[in-house]
Order: sequence, then structure tokens, then C-alpha cells
Amino acid sequence: MHKLQANVDVGEQELSELRLILERQIGVLLDTTTEELTQALSEELGSQPVASAGLLLERLRSSDVECEHLAEHLLDGETRFFRHPLALQSLASQVLPELEKRKPEHPRSFRILSAGCSTGEEPYSIGMSVCEVVNCSGGGWNVNIVASDIRRRALEIAERGLYPQSALEHIPAHLVQPYFAKVGEHLLVKPRLRNLVRFSPMNLAKPSFLGQFDCIFCMDVLPRFSTAQRTTLVQRLHLYLEPGGYLFLGQKEKLLASEMKFQPLTRDGYTVYQKAAALAARSGR
Ligand SMILES: C[S@@+](CC[C@H](N)C(=O)[O-])C[C@H]1O[C@@H](n2cnc3c(N)ncnc32)[C@H](O)[C@@H]1O
Repeated sequence: MHKLQANVDVGEQELSELRLILERQIGVLLDTTTEELTQALSEELGSQPVASAGLLLERLRSSDVECEHLAEHLLDGETRFFRHPLALQSLASQVLPELEKRKPEHPRSFRILSAGCSTGEEPYSIGMSVCEVVNCSGGGWNVNIVASDIRRRALEIAERGLYPQSALEHIPAHLVQPYFAKVGEHLLVKPRLRNLVRFSPMNLAKPSFLGQFDCIFCMDVLPRFSTAQRTTLVQRLHLYLEPGGYLFLGQKEKLLASEMKFQPLTRDGYTVYQKAAALAARSGR
């Protein structure tokens, strides 16, 4: 038995059930230790006490919101600027030129989703990579990056756009001055970059509709999902993409053969996945 708060004990069986509930509600297969899990529960219960572990499970079973609150304490938000350089290189050298050819309208609209964006370093890195290739502020392109995560506290940090000086280690030197202002010991994202990104809470284990995207970045999220939930998420990301749109995964991630509704395109050591419909359209099928 583990103690959660005064008079509330939780047993191994209840903790196993809790892991199953969380897997169903937030997709992620938790590899947290029992101590970490009970610690997270205790922190959550600090604000919302409960009379017994059974009632707590009932509360979690019936409420996505309760599970999402708990996720704040349990999910790993590891990230940094330019964490996936090969993906950003593929965006700049392969995908953007292709989209430029395919979209004749003026201004060209370009929508990107950063799914599981943590504290914002990823969408801002995408924004800088795009602006280095196309003119984001001159009217030729209308660039919109929607950045989402289940953890609202991470999104609050992302919205602020204020990062410690140590972030400089990861940002290419020539991009610091154009996109960041020094504020004391911190770097603040400048409006020209900040204004490209809209942050929005989103649980990737549940259907939601933020419109369709030309590119989706879902980096270091799929490996954390259970097999069943991962398959559903890949199908959902496929749905959220425009025909001919591109799915970017972390550098070491691959889609499974059973998830292949996409065409894998490999160049310079990185594979980007293209929604197949545009290929059919282009070849006249
Ligand atoms: C390891 S971080 C990766 C962050 C960033 N994509 C990167 O690669 O640098 C995984 C992120 O996915 C988010 N996440 C996990 N499950 C999620 C879900 N069901 N819905 C939305 N975000 C989720 C976590 O909160 C975390 O911020």
C-alpha cells in the first residue's frame, strides 16, 4: 500500500488500473516508477482531495480533464531549440521548394502543426527555419504555425517566449540577433517570430480539429504512445494533413509498415512522410 494523503491508501492493483486509464485518455504508456506516480497523484490531490483511491479512479475514468491535469506532473517534456536538425533541413531544402511550386496563389498560405510542442523551442525553431528560406513578413507567404501540447503549463512558458541564456548553445549564432532580444539573463523571442506561432492546448489521444496543415511535426511523441493509441494517432495526423502534406517525425523514428498510408521520401539521411493523395493527383490517377 502507498499513502497518497491522510486516510487515502492506494494499492498496486489500483496503480495498474490508473496506468491503463491514463493510457486510454492521454495515449502515453507511462514508464514512471510507483514512487513517481504516487508523488504525482499526491500533488494533484493537494488541490482536489478525494476520500478514497476508488473514488479517485472513478474521477479519472470519467474525466479527460482530470487525466490531463495529472499529465502535467507525469509527462516528459524534453526539448531544445533545433533538436531535430535533419528534419528542419528537409523542410528548408526539400519540402518548402516543393510547396512553393505547388502553390501558385499569392500570398501562399502555409500552415504547420507542431504537435507535442512542449515549451515552444520546437515551433520557434520551425519558424526560424521557414523564415530563413521564404519571406515571412513581406507578404509573399502567409505562414501560420499552430503549436499544441496537452500540458498547459508548458504552453504558458512557450507563449511567454522567454528562455535562459543556456538556450544559446543550441541556436545557430547567425539566428540569435534577428529573432531574439536579450532581456537581462534571458532571451526573448522577437515579435516577427512570436507572431507566426499560435499556441493551443490539444490532447493528441482525442480527436480535435484545428483545420488542415501542409506540414505536421510530431517529434518524440509517437514512441511514448502505446501501440494501439499510436496507430490511431498516425491515422489522425494523416487526416489533419492537406493532400500532399508532409509528416515530420524525430530523426530516429520511423512509421511502421502497417501505418503506411504515407509515401516515405528519404534524402540526406532523413525520411519525411508525404500524404499520398497529392502523388495520385499529380500523376493524374
Ligand atoms: C519529449 S517531449 C518532445 C517535445 C518536442 N516535440 C521535441 O521533440 O523537442 C513530448 C511532448 O509530448 C507531449 N505529449 C505527450 N502526450 C501528449 C498528448 N496525448 N497530447 C498532446 N501532447 C502530448 C508532452 O507533454 C511533451 O511536451
